[in-house]
Amino acid sequence: MSAQHASTTSTTGAHDLPAFAGRHIGPSQGDVEAMLQVVGHESLESLVDAALPGAIRTDGPLRVEPAASESAVVEELRALARRNQVMTSMIGLGYYGTITPAVIQRNVLENPAWYTAYTPYQPEISQGRLEALINFQTVVSDLTGLATSGASLLDEGTAAAEAMTLMRRASKVPAGAVLLVDEHLFPQTKAVMQTRALPLGIDVVVADLTSVGSATSLRAAAGDRDVFGVIVQYPGADGEVRDWRAVAAAAHEVGALVTAAADLLALTLATAPGEWGADVAVGTSQRFGVPMGFGGPHAGYMSVRAGLERSLPGRLVGVSVDTEGAPAYRLALQTREQHIRREKATSNICTAQVLLAVMASMYAVYHGPDGLTAIARRVHGHARALADGLSAGGVEVLNESYFDTLTVRVEGRADEVVAEAAQRGVNVWRVDADRVSVSVDETTDLRHLDAVWSTFGVSGSTSVPIEDVQWPTELVRTSEFLTHPVFHSHRSETSMLRYLRRLSDRDFALDRGMIPLGSCTMKLNATTEMVAVTWPEFAHLHPFAPAHQTEGIRSLISDLSAWLCEITGYDAVSLQPNAGSQGEFAGLLAIHAYHEANGQSQRRICLIPASAHGTNAASAVMAGMKVVVVKTAAGGDIDMDDLRAKVEQHRDELAAIMVTYPSTHGVFEDTITELCGLVHDAGGQVYVDGANLNALVGLARPGKFGADVSHLNLHKTFCIPHGGGGPGVGPVAVREHLAAHLPNHPLSAEAGPQTGVGPISAAPFGSASILPISWAYVRLMGGAGLTRATQVAILNANYIATRLREHYPVLYSGHDGIVAHECILDLRDLTKRSGVTVDDVAKRLVDYGFHAPTMSFPVAGTLMVEPTESEDRYEIDRFCDAMVAIRHEIAAVESGDVAVADSMLRNAPHTAKALAGKWEYPYERSEAAFPVGVNAADKYWPPVARIDGAYGDRHLVCSCPPPEAFEG
Ligand SMILES: Cc1ncc(COP(=O)(O)O)c(C=O)c1O
Repeated sequence: MSAQHASTTSTTGAHDLPAFAGRHIGPSQGDVEAMLQVVGHESLESLVDAALPGAIRTDGPLRVEPAASESAVVEELRALARRNQVMTSMIGLGYYGTITPAVIQRNVLENPAWYTAYTPYQPEISQGRLEALINFQTVVSDLTGLATSGASLLDEGTAAAEAMTLMRRASKVPAGAVLLVDEHLFPQTKAVMQTRALPLGIDVVVADLTSVGSATSLRAAAGDRDVFGVIVQYPGADGEVRDWRAVAAAAHEVGALVTAAADLLALTLATAPGEWGADVAVGTSQRFGVPMGFGGPHAGYMSVRAGLERSLPGRLVGVSVDTEGAPAYRLALQTREQHIRREKATSNICTAQVLLAVMASMYAVYHGPDGLTAIARRVHGHARALADGLSAGGVEVLNESYFDTLTVRVEGRADEVVAEAAQRGVNVWRVDADRVSVSVDETTDLRHLDAVWSTFGVSGSTSVPIEDVQWPTELVRTSEFLTHPVFHSHRSETSMLRYLRRLSDRDFALDRGMIPLGSCTMKLNATTEMVAVTWPEFAHLHPFAPAHQTEGIRSLISDLSAWLCEITGYDAVSLQPNAGSQGEFAGLLAIHAYHEANGQSQRRICLIPASAHGTNAASAVMAGMKVVVVKTAAGGDIDMDDLRAKVEQHRDELAAIMVTYPSTHGVFEDTITELCGLVHDAGGQVYVDGANLNALVGLARPGKFGADVSHLNLHKTFCIPHGGGGPGVGPVAVREHLAAHLPNHPLSAEAGPQTGVGPISAAPFGSASILPISWAYVRLMGGAGLTRATQVAILNANYIATRLREHYPVLYSGHDGIVAHECILDLRDLTKRSGVTVDDVAKRLVDYGFHAPTMSFPVAGTLMVEPTESEDRYEIDRFCDAMVAIRHEIAAVESGDVAVADSMLRNAPHTAKALAGKWEYPYERSEAAFPVGVNAADKYWPPVARIDGAYGDRHLVCSCPPPEAFEG
């Protein structure tokens, strides 16, 4: 451990717990005792002993440092922050200085109404963030000149990799065709694509496409092979703004698609890729107000031309209508996604980058098209002034046409120049021994130009005129963008503030009430844990800044890595994956590389239980594996007979099994050790999906009970907020024999082993700037606090199961009816008898002031409830009371007293507008809107009534609808 950690544990007496544990954990000691009585156990220890199989229990306390107080932890973070040296970054390569408008920083990034929200699967309570996302989609679609944009991807590198597979799916050229990559792509993007291409058997050919002018020359550049896709950077990594029209035409002639990796700010001035022939555009929206954060998180983007929208990876927001006929937003075309299509999904993306997409969209809303253009002109003006000064001083600038980046010839002096610039407080980029590049951004001013000029021993002008762009007219943008009124209405801070408030008021986030989503662990994201995220010492670091300038964050990363190893029982961890899905992919790549190193590359079968999360199967396919499904037995456990049979059948080709533990059924299966043994005996590896680690921390360690690799979701167990659907961090943790095959990074030797599988994210440490959140959580809780949190998470779930069991069958449980940290309420029989569906119950819960539990996963027709340790007894009782009251409402339908179509359940959620309008329901307004437990003064009003999802898929609209649509 690197920081000076004060041992300032204060205790709550009886349990010797840090004071913070009492704030993170909802139920008080008295509540715990009362709840234990309800579930029939004397102590947390006896409950946990009964819940977990003895064979997997850890034998001692967690060995992490004793907890510190909140103020001490903030001090420690400050000490780490001081060890980072924030220089002016002119490195570029997809990461730029940007000014986050304070109104957006305070009211989005630092506002729990935005950052504690969940993915908008329940659209009626997510209209605010859905509107923000449709604004994001409009920004991307307008600027790139392509019809449809998704609602964010994980970063530019992975977005380019997704474009590669999209182009492969969409192109009709035969298998064996190659992806042709222009050499001016960002180096990390090329590397991420290589990592993704390898297991899929896609050959990537990198070539200089600048002079390609015909189908013949395009094929020649590809080594005379068929080409299914071409990807170019616009402007290039060297800064050059190239005209790719001829390349696009040639590509189309040979049946290939074209992707432009494009800079959104440059696109305010440069011809949109969709206008010069690109089929797909990808990139990052980082420089739209999202700090560099040592690499992330930022929202990657992808947009596509008409006809490709059904192939888009990730989430897409569309417009539909509610039952009152009003327009309403919701996620569109979900049947493309991994949770439905599993191994046939368009990609494995689940958690994306919603919070950052919201920030970028609001940056565009605040500045509008004129403001964005002015920023771009200013950036370009500074780049021109820089170039002029250098050229006048005899320095050779290699660009002819550029937006913000110059490549400069320095003949063998690159290291010297980089060091000289650093002396003056500026980081420039070493391209190779003979060239450096310098990027200008929104934050650049004359002082920075002066620093660069003096590095080269020249001087430049003392003012920066804002002139027209200096590239050929064919590439000068003429088309309008962001014409929708939303991008013209919020210029004043007052108006912007109110717009943000209006949208967040439409949403239900953790700051309003419990979000009992099974498998999602919506626990407290404590304010102290969040504070360091926006400190400049973490927020303003470029991911490729020299190691000696970033000691503090690296030290934090190594602390957190060590703690995660201790907690999980693994030997090594990579924090690079920026979502659970990416951790899965990295873990499976490690398994494949291990088999290959042992001469067993034929091992490609991945066993996956029927109940697994959809990302598992989608990740396995991305890692070049073949999915074989293992059945579920009657009690919900893995069918061990089927497993034995499948292991036997595929013995020689078995690569791995992927299991979630405790299972997605919310049960600690006794058979886990036997399962590990079976798979190992057949030469396979065991992947334990760690999404449910909140039920294990301090009690059992996957790396010690037989697993070889796990991903964790720091945005679940380790308190990173969900952000409305991202950001996330999905570290992959492995045992010693897989450590050599963890991800690494071409631009950062410390990011992973030399023998690693390549980068799976654009940045060496993924979403590094949010790691202080998890670091602070571990420091605040210490080993005892973390263990207690797990115990109470299990207690809370069992308390709910016990209270609700007589009203709704609890689908699966272990011995004595004990569940793990979540429980599944089975509504299937009730639905058969009454016609009331899980959907009806989920929407009715909105009237009661709750976010619905997870619907129909892992079993259709059920609700999966995970309260987490952070919910207190009051809120848990309020939820149970609501569920009981809803059960009575169902009973009235069951008995025939009320027709389901006329029931409060089917007509939920009830809006204020419905209440004020003509009332035609056979129940009272007050019953609809103020059911038991709802205080009229605190009522959450859903802004729309129930949304018709299918309508929206039939009439796909994925950018801002005209305001008239909302009239009436
Ligand atoms: C069991 C399980 N595995 C994997 C994932 C994927 O994680 P992410 O959404 O971070 O990609 C989830 C997400 O909810 C999950 O519940």
